[in-house]
Amino acid sequence: MLKECIEALEIDPEGTYVDVTFGGGGHSRKILENLKGGRLVAFDQDEDARMEAEKIKDRSFTFCQANFMYMKRYLKLNGVTTVNGILADLGISSHQIDSPERGFSTRFDGPLDMRMDKTISLTAAEILNEYSEEQLHKIFGMYGELKNAKTASRLIAQRRVTMPLQRTEDLKATLRPIASRGKENKYFAQVFQALRIEVNEEMKALEDFLHQCGEVIVSGGRLVVMSYHSLEDRMVKNYINKGKVFGEVEKDFFGNEIKPFEAVNRKPIEASEEEIEENSRARSAKLRVAKKV
Ligand SMILES: C[S@@+](CC[C@H](N)C(=O)[O-])C[C@H]1O[C@@H](n2cnc3c(N)ncnc32)[C@H](O)[C@@H]1O
Repeated sequence: MLKECIEALEIDPEGTYVDVTFGGGGHSRKILENLKGGRLVAFDQDEDARMEAEKIKDRSFTFCQANFMYMKRYLKLNGVTTVNGILADLGISSHQIDSPERGFSTRFDGPLDMRMDKTISLTAAEILNEYSEEQLHKIFGMYGELKNAKTASRLIAQRRVTMPLQRTEDLKATLRPIASRGKENKYFAQVFQALRIEVNEEMKALEDFLHQCGEVIVSGGRLVVMSYHSLEDRMVKNYINKGKVFGEVEKDFFGNEIKPFEAVNRKPIEASEEEIEENSRARSAKLRVAKKV
């Protein structure tokens, strides 16, 4: 939904924009094409994304290899205190998922790594081999929405007694007996998603980031967020509609809602059938757009 994201930003050619998920740079390059005198600051915590960003030789472009949970701090370091729009295309990039050695994909065998930022120490293998059975149960239930999270965590705890899990194939072989026949890939995708969210602290990063958006976007500026699973989408939706990711909207003395944004579309924008045919990942994409009040 590249076109939809760019339109949603309503780019002012002289404005300052942030793309917090540079990835392969598709969205950033499009934003840059629309700038004339403006500025783009992009973030990604992945070293491979930084190498891709280095190919962009444009004076209006700045790249920060950092977690977007520190967005405000890095913007300040680069002399930026307010921006006209922020784009987030959450999750992992096609480059990350297509690299077997990163361990993100259910399609290839690879190490149980799943770190977007290779400098952090926690890996999926460490979670599977060190976390308690109860912790695994919670992660699989909450982040993977597995119906049999308890059984899955028990099987992993039993397996690691004799042999630690090191490869994605070890994990799949351990859980294959409890995956529905014919739907194994969907099941593994949920398991991998849960581990990836825990490794990269994705929920905390998203919550911290959203709150900073309210602080740096100027009045009338846009927040554009594309998410790929219901947990993320729920947090984005709550933040836009209630000013917080959990809980109810607060009101001032006069009963006015205290929230920095208003939704531009009541329902999220979804990909067309045509785009889904070209890119199956687009099937689960939900685009939410908000305007700073
Ligand atoms: C779906 S891809 C973005 C693709 C990009 N829009 C493009 O056009 O190529 C998501 C990217 O965001 C990065 N990412 C995810 N969470 C992040 C975080 N908390 N901080 C910084 N980068 C993050 C990932 O490393 C990945 O490269």
